Amino acid sequence: MAQHTVVAMPGDGIGKVVLPEARRVLDAVGFAADYVHADVGWDCWIQQGNALPQRTIDLLARHELGLFGAITSKPKAAAAAELRPELRGKGHSYFSPIVALRQRFDLDVCLRPCRSFPGNPLNFIRRRGDGFEEPVVDAVIFRQNTEGEYTGVEWTDPPQAVRAGLATHAKFKPFVETPGADLALSTRIFTRRACRRILTAGFEYARKHGYRSVTVCEKPNVLRETSGMMEEEAKRIQADFREIELYSTNIDAQLMWLTKNPEDYGVIVAGNLFGDIVSDAFAGLVGGLGFAASGNIGETVAVFEPTHGSAPKYAALEPPIVNPIAMILSAAMLLDHVGETDKAQRVRSAVAAVVQRGAVRTYDMLKLPGGPEAIGRGAATTTQMTDAILAQLR
Ligand code: NAI
Ligand code: MG
Repeated sequence: MAQHTVVAMPGDGIGKVVLPEARRVLDAVGFAADYVHADVGWDCWIQQGNALPQRTIDLLARHELGLFGAITSKPKAAAAAELRPELRGKGHSYFSPIVALRQRFDLDVCLRPCRSFPGNPLNFIRRRGDGFEEPVVDAVIFRQNTEGEYTGVEWTDPPQAVRAGLATHAKFKPFVETPGADLALSTRIFTRRACRRILTAGFEYARKHGYRSVTVCEKPNVLRETSGMMEEEAKRIQADFREIELYSTNIDAQLMWLTKNPEDYGVIVAGNLFGDIVSDAFAGLVGGLGFAASGNIGETVAVFEPTHGSAPKYAALEPPIVNPIAMILSAAMLLDHVGETDKAQRVRSAVAAVVQRGAVRTYDMLKLPGGPEAIGRGAATTTQMTDAILAQLR
């Protein structure tokens, strides 16, 4: 039996397309693992009223290592309307299964490296007085993955006890008379433990990989309590990492500076929502969704997934045209996580070589509209891209 068993959760849409491609790369690089398929996503919701079946949870609890493709998610009402008729009105309520997984297994550290590959035509370029330059972006975002605005502690028409609690706060006064149905409330919950864990993960990564700074990206002047706690803990933790500078940016200003000096950022730590935003923003500088990989890492379980969704428009195209690199780089992160760092590096180098050479590019890399015509216009198919990476690995 192999040392690792990977729970493969392709999910929906292009998740089903890209996950098998990552599997081919893992096999080619000699990663000795068994794979077990687990259902997750929209079909599970429609058929069972539950997008995250218990069997999938049990498998992850047992094997502690997962690869996730992508899922389709829809707002509450739209989700309810698609349920199998027998299940409607039975109290099933849609909740994103990837958010549920993060919370169920306390996958509280979300790691999103955003590094530019030389030669990628999607890399950000900046205007200079006398032309253009392409800054090398190498930012690694640590996003707190289980708390903040994503806990699901929210209401429209909050219960009386909640209203009464809020009324104890002087700043709630302007809202006291607002009728319940007209009052929506989403909470932002931070705990000191989670702040410390995400910050420690960021500082340790910076030390291990030679980054000179950790930047906390929050909004402490407005969100005094939550962002304030993150900043306070950052200062405390930095005491153990004296060689690493601690910077602090506001999420809004950070995005304004994004295109000014992205090369100046190394490790960035943020809460859940701001981490989601800042990681997508940095990913946009280095190739976008076709390149954005991530890991959801807890104390025991870890699940690796591309940042993109199920891209329903492209799900049924035959042959498929989406870029498998984000999924393949997520698989490389899985290799790092289990200590197979040489194999991970070989995968990244193979991707880098294919990108640099430029002979094989998916439609996104050619900035073509997605669709079957893209192939006739020179775009590689999903499989051809993986084949090129495999050829490089050999
Ligand atoms: P999306 O990421 O699925 O697609 C947006 C667009 O990005 C696509 O139309 C395509 O042009 C491009 N794209 C995405 N992945 C690509 C790839 N590998 N190669 C080339 N181009 C790629 O986001 P969208 O359309 O907002 O959401 C579609 C569904 O996915 C929704 O139901 C949404 O809730 C869900 N979603 C799921 C996520 C997850 O599973 N973690 C994350 C984001 C969205
Ligand atoms: Mg996102």
